[in-house]
Amino acid sequence: MARKKSQDGFPTAAPFLPERLTLPSLQRAAAGCRGCDLWKNATQTVFGEGPSKALVMFVGEQPGDYEDRQGHPFVGPAGQLLDEVLVEVGIDRSEVYVTNVVKHFKWEAAQRGKRRIHKKPRHSEIEACRPWLDAELTVVQPQVLVCLGASAAQGLLGKDFRVTRDRGKLIPSDLAPQVMATAHPSSILRAPDAQQREQQRAEFVRDLKKVADLLSKKNVSRAA
Ligand code: URA
Ligand code: SF4
Repeated sequence: MARKKSQDGFPTAAPFLPERLTLPSLQRAAAGCRGCDLWKNATQTVFGEGPSKALVMFVGEQPGDYEDRQGHPFVGPAGQLLDEVLVEVGIDRSEVYVTNVVKHFKWEAAQRGKRRIHKKPRHSEIEACRPWLDAELTVVQPQVLVCLGASAAQGLLGKDFRVTRDRGKLIPSDLAPQVMATAHPSSILRAPDAQQREQQRAEFVRDLKKVADLLSKKNVSRAA
C-alpha cells in the first residue's frame, strides 16, 4: 500500500508541521497533511478549534460525517450533546478547546444506501496524527485535558487504559497538569434504549462536573 512513510517506515504527520507553532499556522498546514492514508477518502482536514489559551482541552477520536462536511470539530450530534452537558455543568465554551486524535474522517460505505459509516482508526493512524495533537498541546497548554472515549484515552494514556475502569479519575500524565478520561458522547447516543442512554448521560455529566470543579478551583487561585 502506498502510504506516506517517515524515514523509519511509519506513517507520520511530522514532515507537514509548520516551523512556527500557532493555531492559525497549524490549521493551515494541517489542511495539506498527507501523513497517512486517511486524507484520501475524506473531504477535508478537521483541525481543533477554540481559544489558544483555553483552560480545558477535550480530545475525541476523529471527525464524524458532519464534521467532515463542515470542516469543524464536534458540530454533529455528539458535539451537540457535549455542548449541552458543558452548559449543564457550567463550563463556559470560551474556556474550551475541542479536537481529535485523528484529523480526517475514516469511514466505509454502508452496504445499502449512501451512508458513510464511521470506522475506528488504527493505532498506527492515531500515532501518525499525533504530531498535530502534540503541537496543539504545546500552543494551548490546557490546565485540564479530557480524553473522550477509548481511542483518545488509549492513544494518549496507553493501550492498556480502560475507560470503563478509570473514567472520571485524575490520571498522572505529562500531557497536562490534570488529565482525565470519560466516555465519548457518541457512545451515549448509541445506547440501546432510553434508560441506558439516560444512565450513561448521567455518568458523563458526573465526570464533566469534576472537570468544572477543577476549573473553578483554578479560577479561584488565579484570582487570588
Ligand atoms: N466524534 C469525535 O470524536 N469527534 C468529532 O469531532 C465528532 C464526533
Ligand atoms: Fe495527516 Fe492525521 Fe489526516 Fe493522517 S489523519 S493525513 S496524519 S491529518
